[in-house]
Amino acid sequence: MARNVRHEMLARPDHDEAARQAFVVALKQGLNRTVRSRNEALYAAIVEPGLRAGNGGADPSREAIRDAMHTQSTYRSWSALNRGAQQLMWDTVAAPIRRERARLEASARRLATEHRAGGSLELDPSFEPPRGVTAMDIHLQPGGYALDLGDGDITAGALYEAGGNLYAFGQGIGRGDSKATHVQRFIAGRWPGFHPRRILDLGCSAGSASVPYALEFADAEVHAIDVGAGMLRYAHARAEALGAAVHFHQRDCTATRFADASFDLVVSHNLMHESSDATRRAMLRETWRLLAPGGVFVHQDVPLRFEGLPEFRKFELSWDTRNNNEPFWEVYANADLTADMAAAGIPAERTWVGHLPQTEGSLPWFAAAGSRPAE
Ligand SMILES: C[S@@+](CC[C@H](N)C(=O)[O-])C[C@H]1O[C@@H](n2cnc3c(N)ncnc32)[C@H](O)[C@@H]1O
Repeated sequence: MARNVRHEMLARPDHDEAARQAFVVALKQGLNRTVRSRNEALYAAIVEPGLRAGNGGADPSREAIRDAMHTQSTYRSWSALNRGAQQLMWDTVAAPIRRERARLEASARRLATEHRAGGSLELDPSFEPPRGVTAMDIHLQPGGYALDLGDGDITAGALYEAGGNLYAFGQGIGRGDSKATHVQRFIAGRWPGFHPRRILDLGCSAGSASVPYALEFADAEVHAIDVGAGMLRYAHARAEALGAAVHFHQRDCTATRFADASFDLVVSHNLMHESSDATRRAMLRETWRLLAPGGVFVHQDVPLRFEGLPEFRKFELSWDTRNNNEPFWEVYANADLTADMAAAGIPAERTWVGHLPQTEGSLPWFAAAGSRPAE
């Protein structure tokens, strides 16, 4: 399934809004492709020699690199522009959603009432989203993942999908295969003939990854969970609009309340880099508890690994932690997923960690995967 599918729940930018969005993509691409590389040149030519000279030639630490780069106006300008581009992205994405809010909410109500695809939505008014999600507006998304403006509100999901598409294109990620399609291809190669009957997608956001499972495994029962009501209302309407039967629930991935051994396939997409160490480890324990004999799990995420990288590269990659409200970005980059899976009770010989095969225009997505022996 393609990354940017069209459907009724997408806001339709007018001419000026579309022009502003196109500008943001071009700005982000310029900042990423052209200007960003000058940071490294600046470091190699000026900053690193100065740090080494003052340090007896020793390798500079990441903190020393950060402090020194912040004295450089070229770097500070790039950093300020990069944050500004992210804020501008949300402004330009929010404008058509705000303008079309009544139409989008009416569509969501109608799609949920008709539920032609056969999916469902279970919200829990007593549910309190975890602090790891509510403490800040992650990647500067207005209101954050758990934004809920009340009955019928779909803003968080609408923002997430439209912003996610613009962000990905701005980073130079292609419009080709979705992350779920990469995972499905990986599963077909590693476990040929595997055909799950019950599937669970953890941290589903707008359901962009949940839908491809429901369409690929049409006879399977697909469930998806997230913590945000505004996200889930949108995800449900979107899935119905795309003819995918997905059952959405407002639940926490660390304590899903589903029965032991009740899923053949448990997946997540880009959830780990939004999770603390404790949440990620609890999510892996929960995955193993939920997996039926013969079941498979794949937790896919961004290819952000710090192991073996030079300190300058780590400094560059940690920009998002400090400037893009990504509190767990470096936590994830430093995570030892093999050790985490072992600590979750998953036998080492049943696990796999690595990069998924890349397709044209995609990132080399990263994944931690495994399977439970058949009984
Ligand atoms: C980067 S988004 C995931 C994107 C989505 N899977 C996709 O592929 O489009 C991370 C999501 O994880 C959710 N999340 C964070 N912590 C969670 C938790 N403890 N339980 C369930 N969902 C969580 C957030 O609300 C957010 O929607």
